[in-house]
Amino acid sequence: ATERTLSIIKPDAVAKNVIGAIYSRFEQAGLKIIAARMEHLTRERAEGFYAVHRERPFFKDLVAFMTTGPVMIQVLEGDNAVARHRELMGATDPAKAAPGTIRADFASNIEENAVHGSDSVENAATEIAYFFEPGQICPRTR
Ligand code: CMP
Repeated sequence: ATERTLSIIKPDAVAKNVIGAIYSRFEQAGLKIIAARMEHLTRERAEGFYAVHRERPFFKDLVAFMTTGPVMIQVLEGDNAVARHRELMGATDPAKAAPGTIRADFASNIEENAVHGSDSVENAATEIAYFFEPGQICPRTR
């Protein structure tokens, strides 16, 4: 089925100047970028996004990292987009990520792991709404 997922290119990957390289992987996999914006997250904005992780031991560090520089946020649309995007990203820990995945190629460690992707269609809807108004999403008509 056609799905949408939220993708974030994190501050480490933006700093490495690989936004385009990562976008190419999305496009080559058949995922369409139907909304995008660069944003330097404030602490409040990062905390709100990661609210589900609030009780995790890595929460404070994660929020600090996500505010170190701009992130590139996009909505991807395509067949089976949530799982397809997660396959492209690879495992959370780049040391465990399969060769050829975004995290294997661009991530530094389990925290500075280059990209975020929604883990379910339900969470994707919540995450997309966190960053984009409906009118900012531009589905393809051709
Ligand atoms: P992300 O997919 O954005 O969701 C939560 C983030 O927390 C994760 O990617 C990592 O960047 C970060 N993180 C840091 N430490 C851990 C950990 N031990 N387990 C899972 N995620 C972690």
